[in-house]
Parts: sequence; structure tokens; C-alpha cells
Amino acid sequence: MIFCQTLTFSQSPYKLPELGFTYNALEPYIDAMTMEIHLTKHHAAYVNNLNAALKGTNAENLPLLDVMKNISAYSPAVRNNAGGHFNHSLFWTILTPEKNTQPSKDLMEAIIDQFTSMDSLKTLLNKAAATRFGSGWAWLYINSNKKLAISSTPNQDNPYMDVVEQKGIPILGIDVWEHAYYLKYQNKRGDYLAAIWNVINWQEVSKRYHEVIPVKKGKFDEWPEIKDFHKTLSETFHPSEEGDLKPIRTRSGEMVKKAITLSKSKIPNEFNNKAITDAIKKLESGSKALDKIVRKKGSDKAITKSLHQLHDIFHLIVDKWVVKE
Ligand SMILES: [Fe+2]
Repeated sequence: MIFCQTLTFSQSPYKLPELGFTYNALEPYIDAMTMEIHLTKHHAAYVNNLNAALKGTNAENLPLLDVMKNISAYSPAVRNNAGGHFNHSLFWTILTPEKNTQPSKDLMEAIIDQFTSMDSLKTLLNKAAATRFGSGWAWLYINSNKKLAISSTPNQDNPYMDVVEQKGIPILGIDVWEHAYYLKYQNKRGDYLAAIWNVINWQEVSKRYHEVIPVKKGKFDEWPEIKDFHKTLSETFHPSEEGDLKPIRTRSGEMVKKAITLSKSKIPNEFNNKAITDAIKKLESGSKALDKIVRKKGSDKAITKSLHQLHDIFHLIVDKWVVKE
């Protein structure tokens, strides 16, 4: 069963998120009972305690990230439970039963730049996790210089909090509380840390990375089908702006073909999200609608309107997700 993975940290009362997979989906690396207890008992307690700690305070209506960035101003109960809710919500999304997910090209380059290799990143992160005394988390985060960095924090602290030394934006967190592994691994934290890399969701980690670091210029070139669609669109749209509708009247069928090819194309990892896939579907249906108007010898006004709508949808994709050439 697949659940929605969307995270919202708007304001209290907070709710327990749903997993994007079943409790047993991560076996043999993380067992079903650990997953179920971890979510429905431990995480649920953080959510309930956080809502109780915030109730009637000024922070009740603040976004959770604002509370965490200023956590020194709050009680230990808010600190522990705000962190507990945020950290676990992040944790569930960066786990997946899907095999062999890969970091985006830019993220992989950043990993190599910073840590020399993926193996070295894993070694360093596992070392941070293994040497965290007692309970806590190990993080891969983006620091204030926009570079990847590794840290660990005690208890439920995280790199967003003003109380921690190494601040930044976490994109991958590993829970090293015993409740995350004890049922299956007992005291062998190292075995849990070795196993967890089999279920890390690099697609999600990449998405979080690109929320902070935009995709590098040139990515447009690496998605040939969108580039090809753009060529036909621009060669028909721009003349239409000058009042010349001949290109679109002769090429609307070609645009449909390119939109279909685009919607069947392999979307590069960093663009593979719902906003993009929805927009691509709209490009296909919009191209078909435009072609229908053209074939029925529609008016200039109707064709121009339909072409403009298509152009707007296209720019939603390009402006939001692709750095322009
Ligand atoms: Fe936990």
C-alpha cells in the first residue's frame, strides 16, 4: 500500500505522517515490528507531546521550522518533541523499499567534491552515527557555505536548531536511538548502520538537496525530449506573437507527437516529482486540444489562446525546475 509522503510543517496541532510503504517493506534491513513501533509509538508520542507543549503558547501558530531555528527560547519539552517530530518525519521519507535509487548528477558531483566518493560518504556518516554517545542522529546536511557536511546531534536535536554547533539544512538523517534498531540488531548499532544504506531513498535526498541548491545550468540539455518539444513550441509560439499563425497551423500535429514522446520519456531523477509529471500530462492534453482546434480550422483567436496556455504550462516547468540556458 502506498501512502502520501508529503510533509507539512505548517503549524500545530501536528499529525503523525503516513509511511510511503508498508511496515515490512524494508525487510530484511529494518524489520516490520521496529517500523510499526517506531512510527505508532515513538513518533506518535513526540507528536502528542509537542502539541501539548505548544498549546496555549505563542509558538502554537508558528511554523515548526521557525520554532526549531529559535529553539533556545523554548522549554526542553518543545526542543525534544519538535525535534522528534521533525527528525522522524524526515527519516520516513528518506527510506524506501525501492532498490538502487541514485543521487542526482549534481548531488553525486557534490558528494565526490566533498567526500571523494559515495563509499567515503557512507563511512564518514556511519562513523558519526556509531560514535554518537547515547541517543541521537547522524546527518548529511547543507552548511552555510552551501556545501555538504556531516554531523551528529544528541537526543532529538538537528542542524536547524540554534543550539547545535554545526548548523544547516539536513537532507539525510539516520536515527541512532536504540528504538530504531534494538529489536533486530540489539546492541549492534554498526550492523544496523551497514544495513540502512540498502534502503536509503536517494531520489528523495536529491530532491531535498535541490530545494536548496538549484539544478546546474545545462540540465535542460540532458533531457532531450523536453528540449525537442521546446524547439517546436518556440518556433510556433514566437511567430504567433507577431500575428503569424502559419507555423502553428502547419505544425500542431508535430507538437502533439513531441508532447507524447516527452510524456513517455525517462524523466531525469531530479525532475521526477508530481509537479513535473502533472505539467507534462497537461502539455500532452493541451497539445492535443490545440491540434483539434487547428484541424477544425479554428479562429486565430482560439488558436492563439490555446497556444498561449501551452506556453504558460511549459514555462511553469522551465522556470521552476530547470535553469534556463
Ligand atoms: Fe526514532
